Amino acid sequence: MIKPLIAPSLLAADFANLQRDLDLINRSEADYLHFDVMDGVFVPNISFGFPLLKAVHEHCQKPLDVHLMITDPDRYLEAFAEGGASIIHVHYEACPHLHRTLSRIRELGCQAGVALNPHTPVAGLIDVLEQIDVILIMSVNPGFGGQAFIPHTIQKIAGLKQFLLANQCSALIEVDGGVSLSNAQSLLNAGADMLVAGSSVFNAPDPSVAITQLKNSHLPSLA
Ligand code: DX5
Ligand code: ZN
Repeated sequence: MIKPLIAPSLLAADFANLQRDLDLINRSEADYLHFDVMDGVFVPNISFGFPLLKAVHEHCQKPLDVHLMITDPDRYLEAFAEGGASIIHVHYEACPHLHRTLSRIRELGCQAGVALNPHTPVAGLIDVLEQIDVILIMSVNPGFGGQAFIPHTIQKIAGLKQFLLANQCSALIEVDGGVSLSNAQSLLNAGADMLVAGSSVFNAPDPSVAITQLKNSHLPSLA
């Protein structure tokens, strides 16, 4: 089994010591930095936007995995692409014209991601599979870091994996919310390719060790 892609979530970093935390990410085995944008409308919380993206893009050597938890994301796709996003995720629930939105993300030179809330079935993606590079499965209700992982996510990912295989779709499966060493191996066994982790990385005694452990979580546990 190949190693998973790991995307630590900036939301759990120490913003008073952001340079330190970005240096840590730069030196770590992280593959991406996950950047959560919340607008206080689509989700009941507000996080950060363009000024922070600019600073992070200047100092972070890892590609940026931008998760837009905002209504009407079409208004901002160009700005996020220009701001340095490598992957842009829009929420399925926020996009009445998803085919157009995903196509636009690719036109802007980014990978197109679509995020699904825990209650959103994967079957609704059937007619846009060709437009998707990454499917982001929310394993918490989006809006806050540090929430408990929803166990049903494992079954959802296994079902999504079968769905993608049955439709010859090579989109990656990414998981976000409550991901830690305790569930990483189950998520990977179910078919996940990429793990987002906020609290379990930045609250660890040594975040770079936590990233390395997640990176190797496909290996059978020696414990
Ligand atoms: C939640 C965000 C997540 C969050 C994950 O709405 O989309 O990316 O940062 O944080 P943890 O890993 O603490 O659940
Ligand atoms: Zn996220």
